[in-house]
Amino acid sequence: MIVSMSMEKELVERFDRAIKSRGYSTRSEAMRDLVRNFISDCEWDLEEEESIAVITLLYGKDVKKYKLMAIQHSYPEISTMMHTHVEDGSCLEVYVVKGTGDRIRSLLSEFRGLAGVKAVKFVRSACGV
Ligand code: NI
Repeated sequence: MIVSMSMEKELVERFDRAIKSRGYSTRSEAMRDLVRNFISDCEWDLEEEESIAVITLLYGKDVKKYKLMAIQHSYPEISTMMHTHVEDGSCLEVYVVKGTGDRIRSLLSEFRGLAGVKAVKFVRSACGV
């Protein structure tokens, strides 16, 4: 099936550069991959099964530590965390989290909503995979 879509010129140009850097040979190939990942993420939201995710959180000194700690304490799904520093003095924390998709998503959105947070990234994998 052929699906066409409209997009601003600048976005298309950035998309073309991005897909080239990732080694995709065509836009269609990249779009199929993006759509698959998007669907998988949406389905994951609804899953009841537990997953394991590794979350990295990068934040500056201006972050309110007590707020961060309150978030951490309200997620018993966090099984491991590590704190280290990057060159500019920012803090980098790495979390291993085991929980349902909705709980992990909720944690990610709380991290993203915290003032002073510079980046939140995560990798997930289903348990037993
Ligand atoms: Ni620190």
